[in-house]
Amino acid sequence: MAREGRKIAMLTCYDASFAAVLDRAGVDALLVGDSLGMVIGGHPSTLPVTLDEMAYHTRCVAAGARSPLVIADMSFGSYQASPEQAYRNAARLMAAGAKMVKLEGGAWLAPTVEFLVARGIPVCGHLGLQPQSVHRYGGYKAQGTSEAGANTLREEARVLAAAGIGMLVLEMVPATLAAEVTSELAPPTVGIGAGPRCGGQVLVLYDMLGIYPGKPARFVRNFMTGSGDIEAAVAGYVKAVKDGTFPGPEHCI
Ligand code: KIV
Repeated sequence: MAREGRKIAMLTCYDASFAAVLDRAGVDALLVGDSLGMVIGGHPSTLPVTLDEMAYHTRCVAAGARSPLVIADMSFGSYQASPEQAYRNAARLMAAGAKMVKLEGGAWLAPTVEFLVARGIPVCGHLGLQPQSVHRYGGYKAQGTSEAGANTLREEARVLAAAGIGMLVLEMVPATLAAEVTSELAPPTVGIGAGPRCGGQVLVLYDMLGIYPGKPARFVRNFMTGSGDIEAAVAGYVKAVKDGTFPGPEHCI
């Protein structure tokens, strides 16, 4: 899709019923995000999520989805210690039905990415705001906003691409920086709060349906507004991603 210049429409998904709806609505990729700890578990962060929970929800989503690519997040503490630890735990998510796993982190993760890819596990990187590192940032803050931060992010993206990632999520980074990284990198980028010039977009399902309590982040649009049902809202999201009308300037950092 990236090579053909077609935008990738991705949403998070945590169960079989929603997976079937998202499949019918034309979503290209379903991310079993560790955001499930917040939107399903009610935790203030993704840190309490376990690998068992990720495997369970991955199995549920894979059971409901026929066409979309199923990507599973590796939970906090399940991959950071060593490539061998990451392989053991990624293999569990692949056995549960994932076709790709996602890891948060920069250049320090390159040996792990190489290790997994060499053993047949496609890997999605995740740069910019990395929610598992929320306590290092001191909050959910935009990244790559200073010149030094932008240079680091560009370099980390190059290193991860060279290590073999098949896709890269960019979260809460300036739209211009995301556009530069996207044009330079072979693997497609998928943005969340990263502007319109990424290879695709992802949102947390419960955010775009307007059912997560609290004030939505600036980059979120509620697609239920004006839609008759959930499938129509999701189809509206897919259309807006594909025709480039989402995200608009009001959703950019
Ligand atoms: O866990 C998640 O939902 C994610 C997205 C925010 C990209 O990682």
